[in-house]
Amino acid sequence: MRYAVLWRKTSSFWSGSILAFGRIDSGLCRLAWPSGVGWTLNDYDGKCGMNRGLQLKEAWLNHFNDPLRVLAIALFVVGCLSLMNGSTVGSAEDIGSSGDVASNESDESHHRDKDCMIIAFGCCCHQEFEQPLWDDILSQGPDLWIWLGDNIYGDSEDMSVMRAKYNQNKSNPLYQQLLKSTPVIGTWDDHDYGMGDGGKQFSMKAESQQEHLDFLDVPPDDIRRTREGVYNSYLLSRKAIANVKVILLDTRYFRDDLVVTDDHYGPNLEGEILGEAQWKWLEQELAGSDADIHIIGSSIQVISEEHGLEKWANFPAERKRLLDLLVRFDVKHPILISGDRHIGEMSALRWNGKYFFEVSAGSLTHARKDIDDEINKHRLGSIVNVENYGTIEVSRDDCLKIKVFIKADNRKVMADFELN
Ligand SMILES: [Fe+2]
Repeated sequence: MRYAVLWRKTSSFWSGSILAFGRIDSGLCRLAWPSGVGWTLNDYDGKCGMNRGLQLKEAWLNHFNDPLRVLAIALFVVGCLSLMNGSTVGSAEDIGSSGDVASNESDESHHRDKDCMIIAFGCCCHQEFEQPLWDDILSQGPDLWIWLGDNIYGDSEDMSVMRAKYNQNKSNPLYQQLLKSTPVIGTWDDHDYGMGDGGKQFSMKAESQQEHLDFLDVPPDDIRRTREGVYNSYLLSRKAIANVKVILLDTRYFRDDLVVTDDHYGPNLEGEILGEAQWKWLEQELAGSDADIHIIGSSIQVISEEHGLEKWANFPAERKRLLDLLVRFDVKHPILISGDRHIGEMSALRWNGKYFFEVSAGSLTHARKDIDDEINKHRLGSIVNVENYGTIEVSRDDCLKIKVFIKADNRKVMADFELN
């Protein structure tokens, strides 16, 4: 399936905006745009170096405040619907749903033997609950598994309780199989830290850190055994495809107090999440990196702003500092991954001229099925409120291809997005 994209050309790919979109094989949808700006027609799957989906998302958002454009968009959608035999075009949700990718899901050869790097991740794995996704994760043969927190529901100052719960999750036979076949890394969130919504005030954080590192089989001489906080970075390399740097943040050990409001939590304008030592480390990790892709893992969401629960937006100065840092170092292919919410969703944000994409995945064991209409102005597509995990699947032909998925039981694709 091939797509065509009509976009407004500016000085750079990243500042252009896509204004029309259609399937080539069912006839190109054309739109007489009122502003008379210059046009370029691009082949959707024929070029590298541009995140067309994000541009399209922004184009829709930006142009909705212009009545003429709203009318033109409506005409365009109607026209395309008739041309494309019922396929919908124009919403961010549909842009990410590539038929080619979905059909590959039934093809086991899609993965390793097709020379694809697969980085899988998830969170919120209750030791007492059914864990239905490990067989699906295993069947993908991932190159890496990333825990994004709430790796157990520990919630205790008693380290023997924490250890027992870690051991319970660790003894799952399918997780054992994953440990034997796949590198496993991770960071923590509040429940495996030991304290619901806890921050730097948790009295057992140093002891809890050692339990967490034990769970991850971190050797005694690793820097995290003596450094405060579980943050760390990793490099995953497949020479023929890409060097992927994974940076996992610790959003608990140094985090200042949350500000409690009627809607859970509000902004703490001065408060910190990472703490200065971790910020300094992060700057060094980003400044010196020549990786092709940078995966930045945070237990809590970075982009989403509206919900009242835990998120970087509760600490706006910290959120700004993180995004500014990614812009300042012009970090190559940054992908934010997060968990915590017990829903899956993808979000995108344009910040100082650069696009950022975040995929939130999980829970592995207990999704928030009651959340189906939460507001997130940055969301691409819909909320996934069944148990799920995430994958970033990287391949290369002429170009680097990065596809991001949220998958449910039986590897059912619940959301996907292509970042190129
Ligand atoms: Fe959780």
